[in-house]
Amino acid sequence: MPMTSAALPRHIALVMDGNGRWAKARGQARHKGHRAGYENLRQIVGHSARRGIQVLTVFAFSSENWNRPKGEVNLLLQLLTEALRREAPQLRDNNVRLRLIGERSAFPERLVRQMAEAEAITAPSTGLLLQVAANYGGRWDLLQACRALAVQVQAGELQPEQIDEACLGQQLSFADQPDPDLFIRTGGEQRMSNFLLWQSAYAELYFSPLLWPEFGPEALDQALADYAGRQRRFGKTGEQVQETDPC
Ligand code: IPE
Ligand code: IPE
Ligand code: MG
Repeated sequence: MPMTSAALPRHIALVMDGNGRWAKARGQARHKGHRAGYENLRQIVGHSARRGIQVLTVFAFSSENWNRPKGEVNLLLQLLTEALRREAPQLRDNNVRLRLIGERSAFPERLVRQMAEAEAITAPSTGLLLQVAANYGGRWDLLQACRALAVQVQAGELQPEQIDEACLGQQLSFADQPDPDLFIRTGGEQRMSNFLLWQSAYAELYFSPLLWPEFGPEALDQALADYAGRQRRFGKTGEQVQETDPC
């Protein structure tokens, strides 16, 4: 049965977990796993675009990943810098727009510059929006939004009682995009690890036992098929949802 567009997620959030275990299982250094993970992301971006996904937000480096051994952190940042430099022109040619989300100020200047350049190169693209979360944490996102609102209150531009969900939501990292419909985590763990806490309030959760470098296009199709079979109720009853849903 062909997948109807109503059953296709507009926005997928993706926790790319399992690189280290993938490398270890092959007797290789963890870094090799991160490289394999990067190669896999290229495939998944292409496949998401082919499937008509509008937004793909991937977790590349969490605000807690600084706690890893220094050598691994440095190699991850190097890989990110290299990937942005190499991929930006290709993403543009494939009509993919790139956006980085997260606190950039903690990164080396070279990486910060590369992020801005890659965003500028792909800015004209009108197809898939690829959001890469780097030094991102859901709690950080909420905190920076609260601070932004506090500044407005202090300036007398906003009354505390005017703060509602929409108002807070507007200060979050990608207020211009819909919330994730489907939240995928690879690698077998069933937790969110501080990714998109607010935005995923009503995302459908999908956990795959596959390690990230093994999660190819077929695995994504399986996740999409699983999503298509879900009933999203948003607090309503199943009967209410069926009445309004023509499918
Ligand atoms: C995810 O893979 C990538 C990052 C967190 C950067 P891991 O490195 O967490 O892999 P495992 O979970 O140790 O296998
Ligand atoms: C989540 O994976 C972060 C990324 C995939 C970038 P982790 O491997 O850091 O998560 P925990 O520590 O197992 O929760
Ligand atoms: Mg992990």
